[in-house]
Amino acid sequence: MRGAEIVGIGSYLPERVLTNADLERMVDTSDEWIVTRTGIRERRIVADGEATSDLAARACETALVDAGIDRADVDLLVLATSSPDMIFPSTAALTQDKLGLDCAAFDAMAACTGFIYALYAAVTAVESGRAGTVLVVGADAFTRFVDFDDRSTCVLFGDGAGAVVVAASDTQGVLHVDLGADGAGAGILSIPAGGSAAPCTVERCERGEQYVRMSGNEVFKFVVRAIPETTRRALEASGLGVDDVRWIVPHQANQRILDTIADRLDVPHERVCSTIEKTGNTSTASIPLALDHLYTSGDLAPGDVVALVGFGAGLTWGTAVLRWTKEAP
Ligand code: ACO
Repeated sequence: MRGAEIVGIGSYLPERVLTNADLERMVDTSDEWIVTRTGIRERRIVADGEATSDLAARACETALVDAGIDRADVDLLVLATSSPDMIFPSTAALTQDKLGLDCAAFDAMAACTGFIYALYAAVTAVESGRAGTVLVVGADAFTRFVDFDDRSTCVLFGDGAGAVVVAASDTQGVLHVDLGADGAGAGILSIPAGGSAAPCTVERCERGEQYVRMSGNEVFKFVVRAIPETTRRALEASGLGVDDVRWIVPHQANQRILDTIADRLDVPHERVCSTIEKTGNTSTASIPLALDHLYTSGDLAPGDVVALVGFGAGLTWGTAVLRWTKEAP
C-alpha cells in the first residue's frame, strides 16, 4: 500500500512575550495561581497587524526548507485554525497567497483538534494517490478572541503556528488516525457570537460574546475520559500498545491535563511531551509546535513511535500514530 510520511516540519512563534508577571498587572491573578493550575509561565502574542495567516506562512516556509521541497511541488494546503483571519475567504487561501503556492487550499475546523483532522485529510489524499505532497499547518492568533479582562481564560492562551510536509512514501509513516466528535458538548467551550447563529451586534459585543467561553471543569472531565480511549484505540489499530510509544504529544491545554493523561495511560510523565510552560495553549498550533520542539531538540529518531493526541471544542478528539522516519536536524 502507498504510504504517507512527514518529510518536513517547522514552527513559528510571534516575538512578543507575555509573562505571568505582565498578567498580574492586567487582572487579579498571580504567577503562583497560574503555574499551579496550568503550568504556564509565559506565552507569545501576535503583533498589531499580524494575523493567523502570517504565523501559518512563517511555519510553512520553515517546514518546506526542512523538507527540501520546492514550492511548485506542493499539491494541497490544509490549514487548521480556531482563529481564522476572517469568516471567508479561508485562512488557507490567504496563506497560500502569502507563500506564492499554486495549489488547492482549504481550512479544517475542529478547534484544538484541528491539526489531527487536517493531518487525516492530508494522509488520506496522499495514500489514495490524489496528492503527492501536502502542507499541513495548525496556526492560531487565538488571543484575538480572548477577553483580557477575564482572568479565568486570559491566562491560558497564546499564539503560534506549526507545520508539516506530508509526502508519498514506500513505508507507512502515519500508521493510523482515530477521530471523533460529539456536538452535544458544544456549549462547554465556544465563541458564542460572530457566526450565523448569533451575529456580532453592539449588545452581544458589550456582553463579551465575541470572546471564548469555557466551563473549565467540564472540559477537564471530557478530556480525561476521551483522551485515553482515543489513544488506545489508535494504537490498537496500528498493532501497537502504549509501551511501544516513545512520545505522546498531546494538545497543550494545561499541565494538569497532561499529567492526568499520563496517569490514565500508565506512562511515565517524561514520555508525555510538554511545552506549555513557554507557549501556553496555542490551540491548533500546539501539537505541531510540540512535535517540532522534540525534532529540533534531537529527541526524535527514525523508528520512534509517536502518538499525536488532540482534543477541543465541538467536542472533538483525535489521535494520529506516527512511525517517525526523519533523522534529527
Ligand atoms: N487567577 C486567580 N484566580 C482565578 C483565576 C486566575 N487567573 N481564574 C479563576 N480564578 C479563581 C476563580 O474565580 C475561583 O475563585 P472562587 O473559588 O473564589 O470562586 C477559583 O479561582 C477556582 O476557579 P475554577 O474555575 O474552579 O478553577 P479551577 O481549579 O477549575 O482551574 C482551570 C481552572 C485551570 C481552567 C481548570 O478548570 C482546568 O484545568 N480546566 C481544563 C480546561 C482547560 O485547560 N481549558 C483550556 C482551554 S480548552 C482546550 O484547549 C480544549
